[in-house]
Amino acid sequence: YVIGIDLGTSAVKALLMNEQGTIVDEASRSYPLVHEKPSYSEQNPNDWVTGTKAAIQEIVKRFTGDVSTIIGISYSGQMHGLVLLDENNDILRPAILWNDTRTTEQCKQIIEQVGQEDLLRITKNNALEGFTLPKILWVKEYEPEIFKAIKTFLLPKDYVRFVMTGNLHMDYSDAAGTLLLDIEKSEWSQEIAAVLGIDLAICPPLVSSATEVGQLTEEFAKSTGLTTATKIYAGGADNACGAIGSGVAGDGKTMVSIGTSGVLLSYEESNTKDFEGKVHYFNHVVEDAFYTMGVTLSAGHALSWFKERFAEGQSYDELFAGIDTITPGSNGLLFTPYIVGERTPYADSTIRGSYIGIDASHTKQHFARAVMEGIVFSLRDSLEIFRASGKDITEMVSIGGGAKSPVWLQMQADIFNVTVYKLKNEQGPSIGACMIAAVGANIYTDFEEAVQVCVQVEGKFEPNPENVEIYNQLYAVYQQIYIQTKALN
Ligand code: XUL
Repeated sequence: YVIGIDLGTSAVKALLMNEQGTIVDEASRSYPLVHEKPSYSEQNPNDWVTGTKAAIQEIVKRFTGDVSTIIGISYSGQMHGLVLLDENNDILRPAILWNDTRTTEQCKQIIEQVGQEDLLRITKNNALEGFTLPKILWVKEYEPEIFKAIKTFLLPKDYVRFVMTGNLHMDYSDAAGTLLLDIEKSEWSQEIAAVLGIDLAICPPLVSSATEVGQLTEEFAKSTGLTTATKIYAGGADNACGAIGSGVAGDGKTMVSIGTSGVLLSYEESNTKDFEGKVHYFNHVVEDAFYTMGVTLSAGHALSWFKERFAEGQSYDELFAGIDTITPGSNGLLFTPYIVGERTPYADSTIRGSYIGIDASHTKQHFARAVMEGIVFSLRDSLEIFRASGKDITEMVSIGGGAKSPVWLQMQADIFNVTVYKLKNEQGPSIGACMIAAVGANIYTDFEEAVQVCVQVEGKFEPNPENVEIYNQLYAVYQQIYIQTKALN
């Protein structure tokens, strides 16, 4: 058996998987997000540790076999979040998360000082508020005492792994989202660090995702009921883990994930293509492979926002009731999900969402359906970037909350004009984490074999030509909304 830990933004989930790739148990614990000011988004790293421990404990408690048969653990982690440790490896301040957008000025500073061209050459990515480097620069400017005390910076799952093993590491797939990784050389960028006055000594050693990085500490083993012989493998960024968990481990594969954020992700064999920073270009958990990805900041978040504000006390099933009888396009009601700004394609933290085309006959269900459509339209913006680069994308695997509803899956097929596959198990990142542990422990020889064993397609949604046409027309209007409403902010 292996355990995969998915350290998400709202909760941590632990899965127990057997050698046949079957998930035999799972447990999760949620934790709060702290928004001290608008645009701020922080979490207490201790909450991650407490939640992870409790979720593992729960699984071990229910496990009827010999615990020593649970041989490995690995991780999938929310990306980009900044965790700062002092010389005693104590936490210096709350973690600043991927969806925190306070760093617009620091992004400008990076572009000015490093230079847009050099930044793209070295990291393959643009300076965006969500990435880690701007957060380090923010601390440097506004919390100089803390900055001085930094001994090591980590990403969220690296901190949990550190508590479980006592060892400090970061894997390439997560490091790629810091904006400090030289993607060509696969090492921390001396060039960027020097220009911005950052000491590279704060960067932890880099490892591949399936590398064994230690064993459970006695304390952690004791408190969870596992043994200290349990081996720990580095793990990866949640999107890379979601990709392998949905079979995107080879050329021509694309995934759409609608979770808190929305992601359109496509496998890349090399790091040599040029997307001019329009989409993210990151290392995969598959060694020497890469992926490109567009991100919608509020995907599932926009729907949960809608439910909280306008359908309090209703379940999603209640909210979705009747939505399938509304014609595609929600009778002319359009929604843009930019409720906290948008990443791809605008990289604009100041724009905000909108509803347009409101008619007196629209019901709450129309408004809910328009939110679901708007989320998919925003992901189509990323798809258009891939298509413009010459990628011929005709099929996709859909995972996350967006893959739970047949109406939403059909919407994705129609708005993207691709065949959408639903998996037997749509919990991508956590399964990806299990797969990393299984590859690390040599249960499978490589990720290709892991995909063959662990990923099974359950449903197929073909685009309906009539709906494709309707959505194409609406998408042309959707694209105008950003341009026409930008001045509002
Ligand atoms: C990716 C991103 C989000 C987080 C969510 O760049 O910021 O998808 O990884 O956990």
